[in-house]
Amino acid sequence: MTNLAEISIDTERFRDDVVSGLSRSQKRIAAKYFYDAEGSRLFDLITELDEYYPTRVELGILASHVDEMAERCGPKCLLIELGAGSLTKVRLLLDRLDRPAGFVPVDVSGEHLESAADQLKAEYPGLAVHPVCADFTAEFALPIRAPRRVVYFPGSTLGNFEPAEADALMRKVAKLVGPGGGFLIGVDLRKDPAVLDAAYNDRLGVTAAFNRNLLVRINRELGADFEPESFKHRAFYNRVRSRIEMHLVSTIDQRVRIGEGQFAFRRGESIHTENSYKYDLGELGSRAAACGLRTEAAWTDPNRYFGMLFLRAES
Ligand code: SAH
Ligand code: AVI
Repeated sequence: MTNLAEISIDTERFRDDVVSGLSRSQKRIAAKYFYDAEGSRLFDLITELDEYYPTRVELGILASHVDEMAERCGPKCLLIELGAGSLTKVRLLLDRLDRPAGFVPVDVSGEHLESAADQLKAEYPGLAVHPVCADFTAEFALPIRAPRRVVYFPGSTLGNFEPAEADALMRKVAKLVGPGGGFLIGVDLRKDPAVLDAAYNDRLGVTAAFNRNLLVRINRELGADFEPESFKHRAFYNRVRSRIEMHLVSTIDQRVRIGEGQFAFRRGESIHTENSYKYDLGELGSRAAACGLRTEAAWTDPNRYFGMLFLRAES
């Protein structure tokens, strides 16, 4: 899947991104770097928490409407999943698709992707499964071609991107699937901030461990000397921007070394590690339309906590 040359290029990019992100006045690191093998494992634990409703609710919407979703995908489609994770949700869809041409899960978390794909291959022996370890915001080649293509993008991973980046991603998807191709996306919706706050501040501290694991990863892969215990997890809803923000807040004045470089942290200063934008389905539909994707169907749950859209690329 990934060769060694790619791994070392990725490490260089990781170092450059971390160094430039920590050199800004508001220090920040892109959320995609959460996902080493341990980050993916911790994310899976998050999805099982009482407070983290999105996975449960999206699975419920899928279960209720999967027949219609599969029908919209059409026969012999190539299904491409962005940010595929553990491949739990897609099984519902794969069980209903009419003679799919293949399945291409795309994820940056290489080890996790490989084992999830191996398990899927064993369970679906007739399905052509071609995992791609890549950053889906960059160029990646499809390992298998088919005239009818559908991108599946669950989990509200779109919300981890800035609005302009999310729009660029939607335009990229429209190009990838081509005229008449499909885009099935799941997004978290705006709601009572207390529900959102609880989902990102769970009682067991799993989200805190997920957040801090970023520092453990930087220590291991970039030879840094962060003391993860001296950074506290902070997550809050930013109402103005309709997003959850996650930060790692330094509890002391300290200096951290990354290779040759040194970074100073004042007590209370934070690294902004994630945004998780919350959507209005109608507004997202309008933005998608401006990116060449027309809304064909929308589904939500009785509480309107989570939404799914089936979008069609303009012909
Ligand atoms: N789709 C799953 C997992 C969501 S977690 C679900 O709905 O539960 C987000 C996933 O996206 C992680 O597996 C992470 O490794 C992956 N990811 C995040 N940013 C990415 C990027 N830029 N390119 C590829 N994969 C990415
Ligand atoms: C993957 N992504 C959409 C999750 C989210 O809710 O933004 C990641 C996450 N961060 C904290 N908890 C879960």
